[in-house]
Amino acid sequence: MRKPAKLFVAVSATLAVLGALAFSAQASAADQSEMVAAGKKIVNNRKEGNCLACHDIKGAMLPGNIGPALVNVKQRFPDKAKLFAQIWDPTKNNPRTIMPPFGRNGILTKAQIEKVVDYIYTL
Ligand code: HEC
Repeated sequence: MRKPAKLFVAVSATLAVLGALAFSAQASAADQSEMVAAGKKIVNNRKEGNCLACHDIKGAMLPGNIGPALVNVKQRFPDKAKLFAQIWDPTKNNPRTIMPPFGRNGILTKAQIEKVVDYIYTL
């Protein structure tokens, strides 16, 4: 009778740990999806990011094509900090770019750009 009892304790302890892990994974996934959703709004908003004036994003209505289409962003920018820097101040990479320096010029805040980065990382 003792062995099954031990087994039961071991199994339920394992399940409790797994449950806790799943719960915390779910919580951070929710935070992440909120960031992504907020970033999408900023990108699409003509008075905020207005990224679609120049960039095509899959499913966008009447996007521009002055800049490259935003696809495979994660593969293009494995380092998220570089992607942030590109949006904060693209003139650092290319002094002649027409992409506005969203952070440096105060068009978007740091927190907004972080959300934009999280969103376009999903593209
Ligand atoms: C006025 C046009 C314009 C707007 C608005 C604009 N961009 Fe750009 N963007 C460009 C151009 C042009 C490039 C090409 C690189 C260069 O000029 O140095 C570029 C490059 C990029 C790149 C690098 C792409 C790659 O594959 O190397 C990213 C990422 C990017 N833009 C994101 C954004 C985001 C996010 C927004 C909105 C917050 C935005 N851009 C708004 C014109 C624009």
